Amino acid sequence: MIRSAVRLINPYSAGISPCVIAKKYGLKESDVLQLGSNENPYPPSEEVKKEYERAIAKINRYPNPDYSDLKNSLAEYIRTDVEQIAVGNGASELLRTVCDVVIDTMDPVVIPVPSYTLYAIFAMLRDASISFVEFPRYEVKAHKIIEKRAKLTFLCSPNNPTGNTVQRNEIKKMLKSSDGLVVVDEAYSEFSGKTVVDLVEKFDNLVVIRSFSKFFGLAGLRLGYAVGNSELIEAFEKVRLPFSISNVAYRTAIAALRSIEYYMEVRNKIIQERRRLFKRLKKFSFLEPYPTEANFILVRIKKEKDICGELERRGIIIRNVTGLLGLSGLHARITVGTKEENDRLLAVLEEIDKPNVS
Ligand SMILES: Cc1ncc(COP(=O)(O)O)c(C=O)c1O
Repeated sequence: MIRSAVRLINPYSAGISPCVIAKKYGLKESDVLQLGSNENPYPPSEEVKKEYERAIAKINRYPNPDYSDLKNSLAEYIRTDVEQIAVGNGASELLRTVCDVVIDTMDPVVIPVPSYTLYAIFAMLRDASISFVEFPRYEVKAHKIIEKRAKLTFLCSPNNPTGNTVQRNEIKKMLKSSDGLVVVDEAYSEFSGKTVVDLVEKFDNLVVIRSFSKFFGLAGLRLGYAVGNSELIEAFEKVRLPFSISNVAYRTAIAALRSIEYYMEVRNKIIQERRRLFKRLKKFSFLEPYPTEANFILVRIKKEKDICGELERRGIIIRNVTGLLGLSGLHARITVGTKEENDRLLAVLEEIDKPNVS
């Protein structure tokens, strides 16, 4: 009864929840430090909190089905036309939508690896023929992608888990050399200060996907958007489940866009901490952090040490990404937290580094 593609798919690994670690090690859930899911550690702006309260009072009603107020606010934020924006229940929904809209059975899809695992899952669900491509130093180059003549290519910039961006000129080369659709997942764009959203005007075969989960710190609300040519965007909107974004998410996201100054301050704090954490991680003989433009740092673990397990036992979650396709050797991904959170992590790493601790 179940399709073979569904049988073949490994379930998406969403990481470990604080409640699981709390139960396992007899800790208080609020004491568990979550540095495994690339979330924003700061609370919402006051305006966002107020709008959330107001929106709750109206949850007996369906949302405005075309989400036009949100699209108007987004059009202002990214300086594009409103017809070029589709919204979704998280960037994840839009990644799935792009596959539903574009891929037929056995269509060629290219995914540079290592990268975000949902791309392969959604492409497999469409019975695509997937090529995974590896690059030296994880630097994505156009020529190796172009030669695959893909109908759809997934780029992630900054890339999860490596943290580096795809060079703008390499993306342009890909866009110029074929009609295949290039999806650029910019879930972490604001932490890099880089985007290719402006290229949508020039290239019909580009779709940029963005999230409210990271820079705007609304991971629990579930909201994302896609920017592309209006014909494609119309197709996205056509296949979206009606009301897939809740009234609360919709109204609150508009308030988040009005609070941009607050979120820029938060971003600057995260970037400052990213710099400090990177320098401190470099000092551990057993770790090699990779330069990053996102709100997380990939580290190679140089010794046979169960760092993730040791941290978990002490109530700190980071993401073990060892075994991820395209990544060889032991690796973990660490979200940049607040100064206090990062200090707690660093103190525990110092403890683990002592020779008598396995
Ligand atoms: C690269 C990338 N894209 C998309 C997502 C999903 O974002 P959302 O929470 O908006 O569904 C994530 C989440 O971690 C991500 O790392």
